[in-house]
Amino acid sequence: MWVWNMVEIKIVFGSSENMEEIPDNSVHLVVTSPPYYNAPFDFPGLFSSYEEYLNLLRKVGKELMRVLQPGRYACFVTQDVRIEGKLYPIVSDLIHIMVHELGFEYQDKIIWRKPEGYIRISRRSGVLIQHPYPMYYYPDNIYEEVVIFKKPGKFDRSAVPPEIREKSKISISKFQAEKWYLSVWDIKNVLPHEKWSKYTAPFPEELAERLIRLYSYVGETVLDPFLGSGTTCVVSRKLHRNCIGYEIDLELREIIEERLGLTTKSLTNFIKTGEEDRVEILVRPDAKTLRRKLREEINRKLENKGRKS
Ligand SMILES: C[S@@+](CC[C@H](N)C(=O)[O-])C[C@H]1O[C@@H](n2cnc3c(N)ncnc32)[C@H](O)[C@@H]1O
Repeated sequence: MWVWNMVEIKIVFGSSENMEEIPDNSVHLVVTSPPYYNAPFDFPGLFSSYEEYLNLLRKVGKELMRVLQPGRYACFVTQDVRIEGKLYPIVSDLIHIMVHELGFEYQDKIIWRKPEGYIRISRRSGVLIQHPYPMYYYPDNIYEEVVIFKKPGKFDRSAVPPEIREKSKISISKFQAEKWYLSVWDIKNVLPHEKWSKYTAPFPEELAERLIRLYSYVGETVLDPFLGSGTTCVVSRKLHRNCIGYEIDLELREIIEERLGLTTKSLTNFIKTGEEDRVEILVRPDAKTLRRKLREEINRKLENKGRKS
């Protein structure tokens, strides 16, 4: 049965390698952004090897195949990452794992283009200005990829009640004015000094909003297996979708609760947020505390960089 005027949010602190809290075939959409392997200014040293990182994607992908309903979509926001000069092909490895190993269909790819002035990390292109000769070309990266997979099977459009269909209607004027119809989306990225974003590498609410509006109906359930600061749940709630989020780092609990407006601490696991909405928070034994360690490592790298320049 479809209920659209009450939202349920469940946050699990623990690894999404195991999503035993979610029944098979019960999720309608996945919107997520996995860690960018050991990206120097987000996740330095998080994984002991690239193989270990790919194994995490493999295990999470397997769980997604189990929990997603047939015919529904999983959207991954990610990009290749360069560490100490070596470029890791995260996007193609993710596609290989999801399609060739796990059996998802490769549905679409959207380029999320960030404004030119919004580059977060150092500019590489300056090298050519100093050495205007061939073989000194290192472009600045201003995009990420949104890779969209489909779980095989057919979604039965005729089973959606007319009222839900109407409430989920996509604004054609927005679709046209903001050029949602293109496979390149121009959206501002969140900068590190903006609220919530320090040490969480969030994606913009606008990006999550487009995906949620385009691939789910009100009252359905959106899952983010790498919740970070909670963007997917915040936007799902705003759009009257239920949300389940997994985050391994318990140190992000405060940020997530603040973003969801849970200012009053509750002694129970269930926290009432509005007239009808409910938020459930579960802390599993495999939750970790990561941010302080990552932050120290990032600051050490920044100091070293500052000393060199
Ligand atoms: C790129 S961030 C996600 C940012 C998020 N989209 C947002 O808007 O804030 C990836 C997140 O995955 C978390 N993570 C890493 N390994 C995990 C695991 N095994 N299970 C669940 N979360 C994990 C990291 O702590 C990090 O917060």
